[in-house]
Amino acid sequence: RLLIIDFGSQVTQLIARRLRELNVYCEIHPYQNVTDAFLDEFSPKAVIFSGGPDSVTREGSPRPPKSVYDRGIPILGICYGQQVMMQDLGGKVEAGESHTAEFGRAYVTPTDARLELLEGWFQAEREQVWMSHGDHVSEIAPGFQVFGTSPGAPFAITADPARRFYAVQFHPEVHHTPNGRMVYENFIRMAGFTGDWTMGAYREDAIAKIREQVGDKKVICGLSGGVDSSVAAVLIHEAIGDQLTCVFVDHGLLRQNEAEEVVTMFRDHYNIPLIHADESALFLGELEGQSDPETKRKIIGKLFIDVFQKYANQIEGAEFLAQGTLYPDVIESVSFSGGPSVTIKSHHNVGGLPEKMGLKLVEPLRELFKDEVRALGRELGLPDRFIGRHPFPGPGLAIRCPGEITREKLEILRKADAVYIDQIRKHGLYDEIWQAFVAILPVRTVGVMGDGRTYDYACALRAVTSVDGMTADYYPFSHDFLGETATRIINEVKGINRVTYDITSKPPGTIEWE
Ligand code: XMP
Repeated sequence: RLLIIDFGSQVTQLIARRLRELNVYCEIHPYQNVTDAFLDEFSPKAVIFSGGPDSVTREGSPRPPKSVYDRGIPILGICYGQQVMMQDLGGKVEAGESHTAEFGRAYVTPTDARLELLEGWFQAEREQVWMSHGDHVSEIAPGFQVFGTSPGAPFAITADPARRFYAVQFHPEVHHTPNGRMVYENFIRMAGFTGDWTMGAYREDAIAKIREQVGDKKVICGLSGGVDSSVAAVLIHEAIGDQLTCVFVDHGLLRQNEAEEVVTMFRDHYNIPLIHADESALFLGELEGQSDPETKRKIIGKLFIDVFQKYANQIEGAEFLAQGTLYPDVIESVSFSGGPSVTIKSHHNVGGLPEKMGLKLVEPLRELFKDEVRALGRELGLPDRFIGRHPFPGPGLAIRCPGEITREKLEILRKADAVYIDQIRKHGLYDEIWQAFVAILPVRTVGVMGDGRTYDYACALRAVTSVDGMTADYYPFSHDFLGETATRIINEVKGINRVTYDITSKPPGTIEWE
């Protein structure tokens, strides 16, 4: 496996993505954790130094342990990683001056294209790359040669081919370095990776690890109906069978037929022991009269933990709690990009629960990205329709019902949402959209139907495209589609007489309405 030492770049995750796409297994670890002992234990076949925001000219700036250079393995340094390598091995780095800083698109010209790392590159005179550096290498380390230059980085590509040390100033992992993938392809080939890391292999490996960790003990898994917890549950069940019990907390804020579908799939199809904790009366009771978004989230989050705990306590002798934690969550929690970020919305999750219950964690998806979880789900035989489902927030319909929540509004919302999603599926648009839903608005408006006046709720349709939910744009439906959908909702859903379409991007909006 390959080790990526993270020096804090915003795009370190993308290095891992590129390598995973090439079927190479890699892990990102923050530089603070990478000690001599860690290297011995991890025993990497190759190492990549990520970029980072610091300056190697600063005393005490982040470094890898010196022993990394003595292991006889290939190393690739990127941006800050290049500067680290140069300085560690006897070269020089100069702090930034405006004429040598480069941010954004730049072009690298080969001075010698015979480097194996660059095989297939430089089909043209120069390659477009993406740079983001203030400092630059001013003198390369002994043993190194220059293989490419750019206006702001005379040593844009340097290497000591004999030791298989490569150092580049640009970021080959980003989209704006169009042929960057080749750099990784060449690097892993030289490092002896065969690209045989597949989901089938991951599944076998994960099952063995779960068995080893859990032994003959019992595991509880909180099932949300979402892809992550479902894949985790099915995988764990495959590993340890009925030592697993799932708890599905039904807060009464789910979409139409959702609870039945989850229960049927897990209980009947997969034969996984499942407790259906139907606590909608409790949740809706506590939410009565509450209209502040943060208060609503807090109530739901707290009740969720209480309820989960109550049901989990019924499972005697459980020692483990399974969670569908993904790799981006893991990296985010160890990131050191700096100060406290502002809470835009308090995302509801079960953090803190394992300690409170004295349970150990089983997190079989910790190493996977979202699309890899989907691939694993397919590998485990979960239906495509289920795996491809849009994300659904923990607090459910509560945050799609701005203002006070009532059973009546929830019923109307469920029906309108079902019609809308049906329309999207019928028009073959579901997979093009990151997330689509209806929000029921806390206003009634006047309308006319037949010969009568109506005074019913207005609703908003939302559909966005996104890659990670962090930024999003509204989906450009045709007017025909919008018109047809509005007509269907008003005709088929009693209680709604006006339909609007939300064309706000994120930022400045958020995806959900609360
Ligand atoms: P926003 O509305 O913040 O949403 O733009 C970004 C993504 O996160 C989902 N979301 C949540 N998921 N608990 C969750 O599990 C929450 O409290 C929550 N709030 C928003 C939202 O559906 C979108 O995919």
